[in-house]
Amino acid sequence: MNTALKPSIKTELPGPCGRAIIAQDEAYTSPSYIKEYPLVADRGQGCFIDDVDGNRFLDMMAGIAVNSTGYAHPHVMGAVREAIEKVWHICGTDFYTDSFSRLSAKLSGYVPGMGKKRVFLTNSGTETVEGAIKLARFHTKRKGLLSFYGGFHGRTLGALSLTASKIRQRENFGPFIPGVVHADFPDVLRRPTGMTPEECGLEAIQKIERQLFTRVVSPDELAAIFVEPIQGEGGYVVPPKSFLTGLRSLCDRHGIMLVFDEVQSGVGRTGEMYAADYFDVAPDILLTAKGLGSGLPIGAIIAREGIMDWTRGSHGSTFGGNNVSCAAAIATLEVVEKILPDIRSHGALLTSGLKKLAAKHPCIFDVRGPGFMVGMELAHPVSKNPIPEVMANLEQMAFREGLLLLGCGASTIRFAPPLVCGPHEIAIALEILDHCLERVSPSF
Ligand SMILES: Cc1ncc(COP(=O)(O)O)c(C=O)c1O
Repeated sequence: MNTALKPSIKTELPGPCGRAIIAQDEAYTSPSYIKEYPLVADRGQGCFIDDVDGNRFLDMMAGIAVNSTGYAHPHVMGAVREAIEKVWHICGTDFYTDSFSRLSAKLSGYVPGMGKKRVFLTNSGTETVEGAIKLARFHTKRKGLLSFYGGFHGRTLGALSLTASKIRQRENFGPFIPGVVHADFPDVLRRPTGMTPEECGLEAIQKIERQLFTRVVSPDELAAIFVEPIQGEGGYVVPPKSFLTGLRSLCDRHGIMLVFDEVQSGVGRTGEMYAADYFDVAPDILLTAKGLGSGLPIGAIIAREGIMDWTRGSHGSTFGGNNVSCAAAIATLEVVEKILPDIRSHGALLTSGLKKLAAKHPCIFDVRGPGFMVGMELAHPVSKNPIPEVMANLEQMAFREGLLLLGCGASTIRFAPPLVCGPHEIAIALEILDHCLERVSPSF
């Protein structure tokens, strides 16, 4: 950690170089991109990123939970450089590389509760979800799929059929793949008075059994239940453990594959390598991507050995398990393995700092989440309704003060910094946030 680094804004935002790049981008790129604020990234170091005009920002969102080891981590850079000099691509579907088999072996060592595993390497989160849909259907010879409201699983048509996060991600893109049903994810924050969080988790399971399985779909038709152990895009929503153990036993009773989509929660983000270990619940299939390659595109489907029984040629991927990405992933995992205790303690430091801000700023409704998967939900202090406009203003204001934030859900700020984030960065983030909250919070 380099304590000399701090945010520094020298120009108007965006500056002249940034404005030229944005103008070109606006002329030629797809209008579907969101572009949260006009950050034009140039180079990064640790948790800090400089834009093309020399302004420096503290990054508390890591390119949406991707830059797990921060920018330019020497161990990851070294591994990538070595791989680039040797071989870039050979296609892991048809041939072998040392890094492909080593990464697969390494990934199969995590989440011991899953027993012996096999690994399929992909390019992205969405591709892991698509592959898992196929694997679950192939193995069970069933077609039905269940996922949850608020869940985000990607944007290709299979993954999008499971996604039920924001309507603008789905509208005009149907029809979706047949056989998908959705159920409620437990909302602990808004549970009825007198109900414990664990009861709230169990109630969600009972609703699936009593309503969905008796009125909508027979459990014998379901190939898989897809769930994010902690919902990411949907608002950094942490379920009670009873919900995930309940899903485990539901799947065991009905021969359904339990798929944990850990694309966002994986690779150390919760302070455990995977959230499955944080909750101590073992899925049948675990999906990982985002932070796995510290920014290089790579993902993996990790399945219990007996489940990954699809046959030679039934599934493949041209770029999946690219040699450079595999080298980055192995090095990333080596770094993350060593810093898991730090992620837990620094995450707790961030959470306690945010809770102190919550005591001061009434628009902070809740602060939650383990490790560096922390959500700060904003809501109207009286009605408890979401306040998306306040969240959007906060993001913009923080950007102008050199702090990169990103929203999720209806009005939650997700804190998903590089996992190497330490007390120095946390103190800066809290100070800027406090200042911005003072200005952004309407006098409720
Ligand atoms: C839980 C989850 N699953 C799947 C995806 C899709 O991943 P990708 O954007 O790499 O295709 C995301 C992306 O945000 C995600 O958060």
